[in-house]
Amino acid sequence: MTTERENFGSRAAVIMAMAGSAIGLGNIWRFPYMVGEYGGAAFILVFILCSFVLSFPIFLSEAIVGRKTHSNAFGAMRQLAPKSVWTALGYLSVITPMIIVSYYSIVGGWSIEYFFKSFSLNFGEFRPTGWTTLVFNTIFLALSAGIVAFGVKAGIEKFNKISIPLLFVLIVLIMIYSLNMPGAEKGVEYLIKPDFSKLTGRTFAFALGQSFYSMSLGMGIVITYSSYVHKEENLVASGAGTVLAALLFSILAGFAIMPAVFSAGIVPSSGPGLVYQTLPYVFSRMGETSPIIGTAVAALFFFSVVVAAMTSSISLIEVGVAYLVEEKGIKRSLACLIVFAVAWLLGLASVFSIEVFGKVDAFSSNFMLTAGVMLVVLFVGWRMDKEDVRSELTNHGKVNNKVFGVFYFLVRFVAPITVLAIFISNLVL
Ligand code: PHE
Repeated sequence: MTTERENFGSRAAVIMAMAGSAIGLGNIWRFPYMVGEYGGAAFILVFILCSFVLSFPIFLSEAIVGRKTHSNAFGAMRQLAPKSVWTALGYLSVITPMIIVSYYSIVGGWSIEYFFKSFSLNFGEFRPTGWTTLVFNTIFLALSAGIVAFGVKAGIEKFNKISIPLLFVLIVLIMIYSLNMPGAEKGVEYLIKPDFSKLTGRTFAFALGQSFYSMSLGMGIVITYSSYVHKEENLVASGAGTVLAALLFSILAGFAIMPAVFSAGIVPSSGPGLVYQTLPYVFSRMGETSPIIGTAVAALFFFSVVVAAMTSSISLIEVGVAYLVEEKGIKRSLACLIVFAVAWLLGLASVFSIEVFGKVDAFSSNFMLTAGVMLVVLFVGWRMDKEDVRSELTNHGKVNNKVFGVFYFLVRFVAPITVLAIFISNLVL
């Protein structure tokens, strides 16, 4: 293929795009709950440790593959290890995001629906499946694919550059309001009271799995986005920026959500229950005192969830689109239509059955993701030429030569062993 490849325009653009993929439902509906249930501040410490010691080097491994080849996730493996078993990693990297986006967009759809419901503050009972779900899922998926159709710069970069700063502003506003509600201290206490007795091996496995999911690792996304990163860009710096942004957002989301939940006197939950049952109740309670405030907070919150989910879903879609454009020579707009159609069809089963939804989520985000991460670290640590890896990480010796040793050790030994442990614990727990 000889089509001219686009690049992200600046480091800020790279970080916004990567952070856009990272920041999503994981930060909003899983992280705050995990913190509270698994040891408060103690869990936050473990999470930060996992993010920097494992997720960060794994992120860099994918970034090295993407930037070195300037190619889609499948093409990257084809270039670096032609006709070998490693093409399995190429296939996996393209298939996993298709599966994830098929159910992720359903949640995006629920969020659009709840955004509209915010105006009446009449949320009714949460109905996760059915025809309404199908309609909103279609809208969400079409909007996401539409943004991707505009291209890397005019679509993905532009959308993330507006959305990510906006998301931070909105979550801080919601947090300030939430922290000032009566009884908010109990929510704060829930989040930070350290309980080291909760730190078991299982907690560690959860923290790591959550960190991988949150950083969008193991599914070709970082490979694909990094293929649009300029040769001169410092990968370590943009990677660190992304990890920090995602961490910060998770913590802000926790302090935005939990104080409000406790203030309404209810017990927090996780997942769809938290966002589409618990919080609507909290918002309607706010509405009893002041309908305007209740509506404003609810609408801003669900708007944020829609945007956060969309910045993630466009990254999932881009993986398949880049593959179709570069490997199959299909025009970008048509590629977007194909990915939209495949995701929509795959999603039908989850649209009509919440059991299928749960199974697809668990299988892709535990099993496929972990397999992808494992293959990537083995590839970069053991199969790729060491000097190529060094040269990519250090921009040909120009930057961070000191960190290379640490990075390489983590990728060769620490990451595979830990990921294997997680894999086994996912199977048995
Ligand atoms: N990182 C996103 C989140 O935390 C989810 C996601 C997973 C996005 C996989 C892309 C790929 O919600």
